[in-house]
Amino acid sequence: MSILVATDLGEIELTEWLKCLHEAMPGETLITDRLGWDAQDIDIAIVANPSEGSLQGLSSLRLIQSLWAGVDKLLGDITLPPEVPLARMVDPAMNQAMAQTALWAVLGIHRGFFRYAQQQSAKEWKQLPQCRADEVTVAMLGLGEMGRTVAQRLATNGYCVIGWSRKPAQVPGVESRHGDSALGPVLAQANIVLNLLPLTGETRGIFDRKRFVQMRRGASIVNLARGAHVVDADLLEALGTGQIEHAVLDVFHAEPLPCGHAFWTHPQVTVLPHVAALTDPRSASAVVAKNVRALRRGLPLQHLVDRSKGY
Ligand code: NAP
Ligand code: GLV
Repeated sequence: MSILVATDLGEIELTEWLKCLHEAMPGETLITDRLGWDAQDIDIAIVANPSEGSLQGLSSLRLIQSLWAGVDKLLGDITLPPEVPLARMVDPAMNQAMAQTALWAVLGIHRGFFRYAQQQSAKEWKQLPQCRADEVTVAMLGLGEMGRTVAQRLATNGYCVIGWSRKPAQVPGVESRHGDSALGPVLAQANIVLNLLPLTGETRGIFDRKRFVQMRRGASIVNLARGAHVVDADLLEALGTGQIEHAVLDVFHAEPLPCGHAFWTHPQVTVLPHVAALTDPRSASAVVAKNVRALRRGLPLQHLVDRSKGY
């Protein structure tokens, strides 16, 4: 049997992925969706933004392995074979990259580094008030693979971290709350709200006017998860009134962020081009190979998505 690699990657990136995947599982036959293939011969699909419908008609398919941590787009494809187990990417190297981005964003807000960058462009020499990390409360929304790593990294750096998830969670050094009714009080306590929730029916548009009003006046938001978590117009309004002081945004409704979008030039917004935690083919291929081996040996698969929950 063969493995289909179905992606929207450019040629250079795809070549790097194929090299790493071959090295991680030398006995496997990899076929890309750019060439013809025998549908009956494919039992595993490795995917990164595959084109809609590309996994249809693969009657021998037994595993769909995503190279992305978030599977919202994949689950949005109604032609995705419903009975085939879907595994998402969980790579400790990615969690570490995410923790670095989160720490940078939190430090940038807490210590005023984003404002100093603006002051430099205006040749303005002005020292801003400085407070200690333990005087800054960060709300970590999502305490999964990434949220837990981020929460711990921030706590280790002295921040007061309150985590929020669906089920009760225990993260060393982090106070945690769970469930819908806890979200308002968590937001009300935070100076910085950091989002690492998956995009699901329940979390789409979670950052809307109602939630911005629940936040402390002058709080900041860091969205490293998905653009559709935020209602852009409501965020722009909250920035305009000063309810929200600063937003660090790595993800957007449309990517690349369209040239005319207000976020590009907004003085209170820092834009990143969806780079908070890129999948690294070198470490991620080992994660993929582990699941491929498990499937071949009839062992349990790891990091399976619960399609009913959407993550
Ligand atoms: P994960 O392990 O699935 O964790 C998701 C967390 O969100 C869990 O703690 C879960 O709660 C919580 N959650 C889900 N729905 C909720 C709800 N309705 N209310 C409260 N909590 C809810 O996901 P992950 O690996 O940490 O990744 C998180 C997201 O990061 C991905 O889905 C992806 O969108 C994004 N991401 C972005 C980048 C980037 O470069 N910007 C890179 C990778 C991933 P329970 O624990 O109670 O289930
Ligand atoms: C990136 O956004 C991912 O979900 O891996």
